[in-house]
Amino acid sequence: MFKRTRRLRRNKIIRDMVSETEVDINSLVYPIFITEDYEENNSEKSLYKNSDKNSYMQYGIKEEITSMPGQYRYSIDRCHEVIDKYTAAGIKAFMIFGITDKKDDNGSGAYDENGIVQRAVRSIKQRYNDVYIITDVCMCEYTSHGHCGIIHDGEVDNDETIKLLAQTALSHVQAGADMVAPSDMMDKRVAAIRNTLDKNGYENIPIMSYSAKYASNFYGPFREAAKCSLKGDRKTYQMDFRNSKEALSEVLADIEEGADIVMVKPCMNYLDIINRVSNIVNVPVAAYSVSGEYAMVKAAALNGWIKEEETVYEMAVSAFRAGADIYITYYALELAEYIKNAI
Ligand code: PBG
Ligand code: ZN
Repeated sequence: MFKRTRRLRRNKIIRDMVSETEVDINSLVYPIFITEDYEENNSEKSLYKNSDKNSYMQYGIKEEITSMPGQYRYSIDRCHEVIDKYTAAGIKAFMIFGITDKKDDNGSGAYDENGIVQRAVRSIKQRYNDVYIITDVCMCEYTSHGHCGIIHDGEVDNDETIKLLAQTALSHVQAGADMVAPSDMMDKRVAAIRNTLDKNGYENIPIMSYSAKYASNFYGPFREAAKCSLKGDRKTYQMDFRNSKEALSEVLADIEEGADIVMVKPCMNYLDIINRVSNIVNVPVAAYSVSGEYAMVKAAALNGWIKEEETVYEMAVSAFRAGADIYITYYALELAEYIKNAI
């Protein structure tokens, strides 16, 4: 019999009644860039000397990221502005990225107990008891060469790097992080982090692993946001976007090593991966809508070529429809507001 599929689309009430996918504010995570802008002897800006290091931190920064209009880097003393605004809209989970000009070959700022992330987390946790803080665990913001690990003999050294990642994760948790999210794509790093956390009494801290993280062009705007000094690419450790079976082996290995949540990244061009992964795993799946996705929509919206909020909602729905349980997005606020107004 001929079926009239339009019957269930005749008005909003029936469309809403039969819709399969919701975007839940509780499942959104917002990334925040926190900067320490190390500048020696800069007398023009407001500076204070870090108590036990010969370095200077700046106050009062809220600087717009050129490649991501509407997104900012905050100094620690101003990050409450963004947290207050987002929590008021119902967003409770934040992912912290540390930005610094202070870089060295060993990425020592990553695991410094007075590093930018460690100090930011302590400060946020002191001020708020009802926000959930996830830290991005990686070395690329702290290495002079910009790679996600340390380099020996011209290659990113996997096994030396994971020791430092474990140390980094531990220092984040000691500062008060609720969850750690390793984004480096070294092998066995989840096991290394899990072991270190457990040995130090942090067996209740979950790990969200960037498990299927592709070497993507869509990270371009982030590299500027994070002041990453990378020349070249990350193709020797991040996944080849021509592959999808490999994503399954990555997530299964990470779950075996102790990952509590697995992530697929980027999102929009990788919905097939989200779907494949969510069909086989028995842990929550996170999808990260990355900087390039944000920048493209923002640029089109600024030109008046696209309806921004509705496009952003459509992207989020697509991620959840594909099988994501958690959605990490620079558009968290706009989404939360859109959903609230739609109800
Ligand atoms: C660091 C990291 C990156 C992103 C998250 N963590 C950049 C990269 O791997 O080059 C990308 C985030 C985005 O583009 O929004 N390892
Ligand atoms: Zn990295």
